[in-house]
Amino acid sequence: MKYVIAPSILSADLACLGAEVEAVLAAGADWVHFDVMDNHYVPNLTFGPVVVKALRNHGVTAPIDVHLMVKPVDRIVGDFIEAGATGISVHPEATEHLDRTLELIRSGGCSPGLVFNPATPLHSLEYVLDKLALVLLMTVNPGFGGQRFIPGMLDKVRRARAWLDGAGSGARLQVDGGVGVDNIRAIAAAGADAFVAGSAVFGSEDYVATIAAMRAELALAGSRSA
Ligand code: DX5
Ligand code: ZN
Repeated sequence: MKYVIAPSILSADLACLGAEVEAVLAAGADWVHFDVMDNHYVPNLTFGPVVVKALRNHGVTAPIDVHLMVKPVDRIVGDFIEAGATGISVHPEATEHLDRTLELIRSGGCSPGLVFNPATPLHSLEYVLDKLALVLLMTVNPGFGGQRFIPGMLDKVRRARAWLDGAGSGARLQVDGGVGVDNIRAIAAAGADAFVAGSAVFGSEDYVATIAAMRAELALAGSRSA
Protein backbone atom coordinates (compact mmCIF):
# COMPACT_ATOMS: atom_id res chain seq x y z
CA MET A 1 0.00 0.00 0.00
CA LYS A 2 1.49 3.37 -1.02
CA TYR A 3 2.30 5.68 1.86
CA VAL A 4 -0.02 8.70 2.12
CA ILE A 5 1.06 12.16 3.29
CA ALA A 6 -1.86 14.35 4.35
CA PRO A 7 -0.96 17.90 5.44
CA SER A 8 -3.41 19.31 7.98
CA ILE A 9 -4.80 22.67 6.91
CA LEU A 10 -5.11 23.67 10.55
CA SER A 11 -1.50 24.89 10.26
CA ALA A 12 -1.89 26.50 6.83
CA ASP A 13 -2.01 30.23 6.20
CA LEU A 14 -5.82 30.32 6.32
CA ALA A 15 -5.90 33.78 4.78
CA CYS A 16 -4.96 32.11 1.49
CA LEU A 17 -6.16 28.58 1.98
CA GLY A 18 -6.79 27.76 -1.69
CA ALA A 19 -3.26 28.68 -2.68
CA GLU A 20 -1.81 26.82 0.32
CA VAL A 21 -3.67 23.63 -0.56
CA GLU A 22 -2.61 23.92 -4.20
CA ALA A 23 0.98 24.40 -3.08
CA VAL A 24 1.18 21.33 -0.84
CA LEU A 25 -0.52 19.14 -3.42
CA ALA A 26 1.87 20.41 -6.09
CA ALA A 27 4.68 19.70 -3.64
CA GLY A 28 3.70 16.03 -3.53
CA ALA A 29 1.12 15.71 -0.76
CA ASP A 30 -1.56 13.06 -1.38
CA TRP A 31 -4.55 14.17 0.70
CA VAL A 32 -5.84 17.30 2.41
CA HIS A 33 -6.39 16.64 6.14
CA PHE A 34 -9.31 18.81 7.23
CA ASP A 35 -9.56 19.31 10.99
CA VAL A 36 -13.07 20.19 12.16
CA MET A 37 -13.27 21.36 15.79
CA ASP A 38 -16.45 22.44 17.60
CA ASN A 39 -15.16 23.92 20.89
CA HIS A 40 -17.21 21.25 22.66
CA TYR A 41 -15.59 17.90 21.97
CA VAL A 42 -12.21 19.68 21.82
CA PRO A 43 -11.30 23.11 23.25
CA ASN A 44 -10.90 24.83 19.88
CA LEU A 45 -13.08 25.98 16.98
CA THR A 46 -12.16 25.72 13.31
CA PHE A 47 -14.13 25.45 10.08
CA GLY A 48 -17.17 23.70 8.64
CA PRO A 49 -18.46 22.10 5.43
CA VAL A 50 -18.60 25.44 3.59
CA VAL A 51 -14.80 25.42 3.52
CA VAL A 52 -14.71 21.94 1.99
CA LYS A 53 -17.15 23.24 -0.63
CA ALA A 54 -14.97 26.29 -1.22
CA LEU A 55 -11.92 24.08 -1.83
CA ARG A 56 -13.89 21.93 -4.28
CA ASN A 57 -15.15 25.08 -6.06
CA HIS A 58 -11.57 26.33 -6.11
CA GLY A 59 -10.72 23.21 -8.13
CA VAL A 60 -9.24 20.91 -5.50
CA THR A 61 -9.82 17.35 -6.70
CA ALA A 62 -7.47 15.56 -4.27
CA PRO A 63 -9.01 13.49 -1.44
CA ILE A 64 -10.22 15.65 1.45
CA ASP A 65 -9.73 13.67 4.63
CA VAL A 66 -12.21 15.15 7.13
CA HIS A 67 -11.40 14.63 10.80
CA LEU A 68 -14.50 15.45 12.86
CA MET A 69 -13.64 16.51 16.40
CA VAL A 70 -17.33 17.22 16.90
CA LYS A 71 -19.90 15.91 19.38
CA PRO A 72 -22.66 14.99 18.71
CA VAL A 73 -21.46 14.13 15.23
CA ASP A 74 -24.31 12.51 13.22
CA ARG A 75 -26.10 15.77 12.39
CA ILE A 76 -23.11 17.25 10.56
CA VAL A 77 -21.96 14.16 8.65
CA GLY A 78 -24.40 14.73 5.77
CA ASP A 79 -23.24 18.34 5.34
CA PHE A 80 -19.65 17.19 4.83
CA ILE A 81 -20.74 14.48 2.39
CA GLU A 82 -22.69 17.10 0.44
CA ALA A 83 -19.76 19.54 0.52
CA GLY A 84 -17.40 17.03 -1.13
CA ALA A 85 -15.53 15.18 1.63
CA THR A 86 -13.73 12.02 0.53
CA GLY A 87 -13.21 10.39 3.91
CA ILE A 88 -14.89 11.22 7.20
CA SER A 89 -13.30 10.11 10.45
CA VAL A 90 -15.10 10.23 13.79
CA HIS A 91 -14.19 9.61 17.42
CA PRO A 92 -16.07 6.73 19.14
CA GLU A 93 -16.75 9.02 22.11
CA ALA A 94 -18.62 11.44 19.81
CA THR A 95 -21.57 9.19 19.01
CA GLU A 96 -24.00 7.05 21.03
CA HIS A 97 -24.34 4.60 18.11
CA LEU A 98 -21.00 4.17 16.34
CA ASP A 99 -22.16 1.48 13.92
CA ARG A 100 -24.98 3.73 12.75
CA THR A 101 -22.63 6.73 12.36
CA LEU A 102 -20.17 4.73 10.26
CA GLU A 103 -23.04 3.44 8.11
CA LEU A 104 -24.23 7.05 7.66
CA ILE A 105 -20.78 7.97 6.29
CA ARG A 106 -20.54 4.90 4.06
CA SER A 107 -24.06 5.14 2.65
CA GLY A 108 -23.30 8.75 1.72
CA GLY A 109 -20.42 7.56 -0.46
CA CYS A 110 -17.58 8.59 1.86
CA SER A 111 -14.88 6.40 3.40
CA PRO A 112 -15.49 5.86 7.13
CA GLY A 113 -12.65 6.33 9.60
CA LEU A 114 -12.39 5.78 13.36
CA VAL A 115 -10.17 8.03 15.47
CA PHE A 116 -8.50 7.02 18.74
CA ASN A 117 -7.29 9.64 21.20
CA PRO A 118 -4.03 8.77 22.96
CA ALA A 119 -5.84 7.33 26.01
CA THR A 120 -8.61 5.63 24.05
CA PRO A 121 -8.11 1.84 23.91
CA LEU A 122 -8.41 0.05 20.58
CA HIS A 123 -11.30 -2.19 21.62
CA SER A 124 -13.84 -0.05 19.74
CA LEU A 125 -12.40 -1.71 16.63
CA GLU A 126 -13.83 -5.06 17.66
CA TYR A 127 -17.28 -4.91 16.05
CA VAL A 128 -16.81 -2.23 13.37
CA LEU A 129 -13.47 -3.02 11.75
CA ASP A 130 -15.20 -4.43 8.67
CA LYS A 131 -16.89 -1.02 8.17
CA LEU A 132 -13.66 1.00 8.29
CA ALA A 133 -11.56 2.33 5.44
CA LEU A 134 -9.23 4.04 7.90
CA VAL A 135 -8.07 3.85 11.53
CA LEU A 136 -6.58 7.10 12.82
CA LEU A 137 -4.38 7.11 15.90
CA MET A 138 -3.96 10.49 17.58
CA THR A 139 -0.40 10.92 18.78
CA VAL A 140 -1.26 14.20 20.50
CA ASN A 141 -4.36 15.18 22.46
CA PRO A 142 -6.74 16.66 19.89
CA GLY A 143 -7.48 20.36 19.55
CA PHE A 144 -4.27 21.98 18.40
CA GLY A 145 -1.47 21.75 15.86
CA GLY A 146 2.19 22.07 16.72
CA GLN A 147 2.20 19.69 19.70
CA ARG A 148 4.88 17.10 20.44
CA PHE A 149 4.42 13.48 19.37
CA ILE A 150 3.64 11.28 22.42
CA PRO A 151 6.41 8.64 22.24
CA GLY A 152 4.39 5.91 23.94
CA MET A 153 2.02 5.95 20.95
CA LEU A 154 4.52 4.03 18.80
CA ASP A 155 3.57 0.86 20.65
CA LYS A 156 -0.10 1.62 20.05
CA VAL A 157 0.67 1.89 16.32
CA ARG A 158 2.30 -1.55 16.46
CA ARG A 159 -0.74 -2.98 18.30
CA ALA A 160 -3.16 -1.43 15.83
CA ARG A 161 -1.13 -2.75 12.89
CA ALA A 162 -1.15 -6.23 14.42
CA TRP A 163 -4.92 -5.98 14.91
CA LEU A 164 -5.55 -4.88 11.31
CA ASP A 165 -3.22 -7.52 9.84
CA GLY A 166 -4.62 -10.23 12.11
CA ALA A 167 -8.15 -9.41 10.96
CA GLY A 168 -7.09 -9.20 7.31
CA SER A 169 -8.33 -5.61 7.21
CA GLY A 170 -7.38 -3.44 4.25
CA ALA A 171 -8.06 -0.26 6.26
CA ARG A 172 -5.36 2.39 6.25
CA LEU A 173 -3.56 3.06 9.53
CA GLN A 174 -3.14 6.82 9.84
CA VAL A 175 -1.19 8.73 12.51
CA ASP A 176 -1.99 12.32 13.43
CA GLY A 177 -0.12 14.70 15.69
CA GLY A 178 3.51 15.76 15.96
CA VAL A 179 4.54 13.89 12.82
CA GLY A 180 7.62 15.25 11.07
CA VAL A 181 10.71 14.37 9.06
CA ASP A 182 12.46 13.33 12.27
CA ASN A 183 9.99 10.64 13.32
CA ILE A 184 8.01 9.58 10.23
CA ARG A 185 10.35 6.67 9.51
CA ALA A 186 9.90 5.18 12.99
CA ILE A 187 6.13 5.65 12.76
CA ALA A 188 6.06 3.87 9.39
CA ALA A 189 8.29 1.09 10.73
CA ALA A 190 5.74 0.62 13.55
CA GLY A 191 3.09 -0.04 10.93
CA ALA A 192 1.42 3.23 9.90
CA ASP A 193 0.82 3.89 6.19
CA ALA A 194 -0.83 7.33 6.27
CA PHE A 195 0.62 10.42 7.94
CA VAL A 196 -1.01 13.67 8.92
CA ALA A 197 1.51 16.51 9.18
CA GLY A 198 0.35 20.03 9.87
CA SER A 199 3.05 22.24 11.36
CA ALA A 200 5.87 20.08 9.97
CA VAL A 201 4.72 20.91 6.44
CA PHE A 202 2.96 24.27 6.61
CA GLY A 203 5.47 25.54 9.17
CA SER A 204 8.37 24.80 6.84
CA GLU A 205 10.00 27.18 4.37
CA ASP A 206 9.89 24.78 1.43
CA TYR A 207 6.95 22.39 1.01
CA VAL A 208 8.64 20.49 -1.82
CA ALA A 209 11.79 19.87 0.21
CA THR A 210 9.86 18.91 3.34
CA ILE A 211 7.60 16.42 1.61
CA ALA A 212 10.53 15.02 -0.36
CA ALA A 213 12.42 14.54 2.91
CA MET A 214 9.42 12.72 4.35
CA ARG A 215 9.25 10.48 1.28
CA ALA A 216 12.96 9.74 1.58
CA GLU A 217 12.48 8.74 5.21
CA LEU A 218 9.51 6.56 4.26
CA ALA A 219 11.58 4.85 1.57
CA LEU A 220 14.08 3.92 4.30
CA ALA A 221 11.26 2.47 6.40
CA GLY A 222 10.63 -0.11 3.72
CA SER A 223 7.33 -0.16 1.86
CA ARG A 224 4.42 -2.03 3.36
CA SER A 225 3.36 -5.07 1.39
CA ALA A 226 0.61 -4.28 -1.11
C1 DX5 B 1 -5.15 17.96 16.20
C2 DX5 B 1 -5.44 17.64 14.74
C3 DX5 B 1 -4.19 17.32 13.97
C4 DX5 B 1 -3.20 18.48 13.95
C5 DX5 B 1 -1.87 18.00 13.43
O1 DX5 B 1 -6.34 17.88 16.94
O2 DX5 B 1 -6.31 16.54 14.62
O3 DX5 B 1 -4.53 16.95 12.63
O4 DX5 B 1 -3.68 19.51 13.12
O5 DX5 B 1 -0.98 19.09 13.50
P1 DX5 B 1 0.58 18.80 13.77
O6 DX5 B 1 1.05 17.94 12.62
O7 DX5 B 1 1.19 20.18 13.76
O8 DX5 B 1 0.68 18.10 15.09
ZN1 ZN C 1 -6.55 15.74 12.56
